[in-house]
Amino acid sequence: MTRVLTGIKPTGDLHLGNYVGAIQHILRMAEDTSQEIFFFVADYHALNTVKDAKQLRESTKRIIAAYLAFGLDPEKITLYRQSDVPEIFEITTILNAVTPKGLMNRAHAYKAAVDQNAAQGKVGEEADIGVNMGLYNYPILMTADILALNAELVPVGKDQAQHLEFARDIGGRFNHAFGETFKLPQGFISEEGAVIPGLDGRKMSKSYDNTIPLFSTASELKKLVMKKIITDTAPPEAKKDPEESTIYQLYKVFAQPEQVAEMKAGFEQGGLGYGTAKKQLLEALENHLAGPREKYEALLQQPEVLDEIMRKGAEKARAVATPMLKKVRQAIGAD
Ligand code: ADP
Ligand code: TRP
Repeated sequence: MTRVLTGIKPTGDLHLGNYVGAIQHILRMAEDTSQEIFFFVADYHALNTVKDAKQLRESTKRIIAAYLAFGLDPEKITLYRQSDVPEIFEITTILNAVTPKGLMNRAHAYKAAVDQNAAQGKVGEEADIGVNMGLYNYPILMTADILALNAELVPVGKDQAQHLEFARDIGGRFNHAFGETFKLPQGFISEEGAVIPGLDGRKMSKSYDNTIPLFSTASELKKLVMKKIITDTAPPEAKKDPEESTIYQLYKVFAQPEQVAEMKAGFEQGGLGYGTAKKQLLEALENHLAGPREKYEALLQQPEVLDEIMRKGAEKARAVATPMLKKVRQAIGAD
């Protein structure tokens, strides 16, 4: 059985893009019985940016509730919160000792922060303004997430490819110094799947403030679809290129294939106006999201259920991480 591990940082509410790019992937993986899946919420990674206990606690629970609401079965996968597995942090400290500082200097996120400072004239001693050690050491913690669970396969988006290389590099350095201890994980960089456009037609992203939240209320959803999706001014009778339409791009993901074909034809042949198309999109979204939304809201009202799921998940994760840590301590002479 292949051990697969992936994590998600709890920052901000989930949106339709996250559903297509992340949630659907995990749901599909969970159905594959040849894989043993560890999926966790990386709350200590979020701590680098989130400095509010209530926000961190709630966004972590919201992520867990969201995945459960879409049917993820915590009996089929190990679902846990990073901060509940202290072995990860001890391994982080140990890995610090074999990680060259120069490797961290090359990390994309760190370099981006330094470049941004430089663009504002902050160089020399000021180059690192706004960078905390958590951000700087981010790749080491992520390495420990993976190695502590002895994961073989780590599916991530393209933006995480460098972190995967670092994990292999750091794990390899440890093995070289102390003997074969860690399996070196294989990255599984998911091909750029369908990228969902946001309200303004650019990629839907928190950074662009153009998202449709996954759990908007019915009335918020209506307002966003009917009033906030930007279209051009083509009249109903005009022929339109569906691939250029945000409405159609979203519809493709959430409607049935026959409905999608119908909208495509309506745009291509002319006769389908944006207002009508938006109504159809809204209906498809409602059909798809109303059930999960209800389940999500109900779960958030039952913190004891979420706590119990997290407790059980942590127990399963620690059943792997505890012997792993023991092996590591033996390898370094801290047994
Ligand atoms: P954001 O761009 O809103 O900050 P993240 O970078 O946190 O989103 O993405 C989390 C996950 O959701 C990743 O797996 C990413 O591939 C997926 N994702 C985010 N936006 C989209 C999108 N517009 N279309 C498809 N997948 C997306
Ligand atoms: N860094 C990842 C992201 O921002 C989240 C993450 C943390 C992760 N630890 C991980 C992903 C370990 C895979 C494996 O998306």
